Amino acid sequence: MTFEAKTAFEPFRIKSIEPIGLISKEQRRRAIADAGYNIFNLRAEDILIDLQTDSGTTAMSAEQWSGMLRGDESYSGSRSFFKFREVFADISGFEHIFPTHQGRAAEHILFTALIASSKRKDLVIPSNVHFDTTRANIEINGMEARDLLIAEGREPMLDYPFKGNLDTQKLKALIAEVGADRIPVCMVTITNNAGGGQPVSMQNIREISSICREAKIPFFIDACRFAENAMFIKLREPGYADKSPREIARELFSYADGCTVSAKKDGMVNMGGILAMNNDALAERCRNLMVVSEGFPTYGGLAGYDLEALAVGLNEVLDENYLRYRLGQCEYLGDKLLARRIPIVRPTGGHAVFIDAGALLPHIPALQYPAWALSVYLYELAGIRTCEIGSMLFAKIDENGKESAAPYELLRLALPRRVYTQAHLDYVAEAVAYAAAHKNEIRGMRIDYQAPVLRHFTARLSWIDEREAA
Ligand code: F0G
Repeated sequence: MTFEAKTAFEPFRIKSIEPIGLISKEQRRRAIADAGYNIFNLRAEDILIDLQTDSGTTAMSAEQWSGMLRGDESYSGSRSFFKFREVFADISGFEHIFPTHQGRAAEHILFTALIASSKRKDLVIPSNVHFDTTRANIEINGMEARDLLIAEGREPMLDYPFKGNLDTQKLKALIAEVGADRIPVCMVTITNNAGGGQPVSMQNIREISSICREAKIPFFIDACRFAENAMFIKLREPGYADKSPREIARELFSYADGCTVSAKKDGMVNMGGILAMNNDALAERCRNLMVVSEGFPTYGGLAGYDLEALAVGLNEVLDENYLRYRLGQCEYLGDKLLARRIPIVRPTGGHAVFIDAGALLPHIPALQYPAWALSVYLYELAGIRTCEIGSMLFAKIDENGKESAAPYELLRLALPRRVYTQAHLDYVAEAVAYAAAHKNEIRGMRIDYQAPVLRHFTARLSWIDEREAA
């Protein structure tokens, strides 16, 4: 008997459930109007399917929950810390490993330590694409963040296996232009979140590493989604098909001098971060900064039980069956949307599907925020929460308040880990297809209130009515 099932199922059973509040469309309309048409202002209990982020929204396993009871809450030298350190050292090979309360705390400590040890003040930090918090932590320290993504990564519809790669020619040119002494570190974000969860190839990581080693520039990985990136390498890069995700992760970390991690992603926990490195002197400075802002270096803002859950999560995330399911789930939703002719960023990334709202809603000008309008419409229609990555987030505003649009109007549908089933994704695809079929009902939006920085968090908007739009 040979039975080769075609159905790829979730590789777990559900042991503990959380009911989804099923509120009516009328209630949703009222809720979003009260929220100033801003999904950040909604109450989570008014949402049916929450695809706002994959960060901190993971469902933990029975092993993780039972590990939490074994957490050691000692102020210093906690058993749980050593367990966590052993697990992450086995994956990353780094000498010095510090827990932090989340990813941005690790970034803050790293950049503060780097700037303190540099003689120059006009520092530049390159990356493929810096995530917002990384960029903010660089800029707040008076340094410049430079994105050096390959050209293919900027074309939403182009199918290319490693759209997260850093352009190594541009890196060499930057080093030649400003000099290595103005570059305290080079980063690479795996996977590239801002560009749709697109992976970086091993070859690219190897090349960046060799350029940096030659120029004596430390090379750090923003490794929030290291396991998803490792699985993409296994599936797409020649020579890696027979390697395990753990072997691939070990190899990619071996080319770096350190990393920052938001454990809220591939750490499989609801809160936590990691800062790791090999250099003793830099580690010493980080340790001293840790004590001031995060806590003693063996707990770094986390409880002992958090460290236990993280130790288990870091092993679980490298399970090949899990990763196959994880990337498969994103691809499943992406394929369902493509089959309904919804324009999405291709190929589908590792943690989210990005809808090209600019292409889907050509009747809405960029500065009437088509992706934002689609997010509001999807919430009213089906209770789905998504996240705009378009002009609301990235428009440039000059000193006279004049806005110029972002290069794309994308809507991110981020999938929390191990939370939603295939039926939930079918529902999402059905709702998006309905929105696309009724796109003329979707109008542009106007901002009624905005804060001077990070306006998307608190902005209040309203629909532009048909007469105004005409
Ligand atoms: N780096 C990347 C690539 C991220 O995606 C994030 C967070 C961080 C750093 C910061 O980590 O939140 O633990 O401080 N991304 C979340 C998201 C917020 O929704 O994509 P943090």
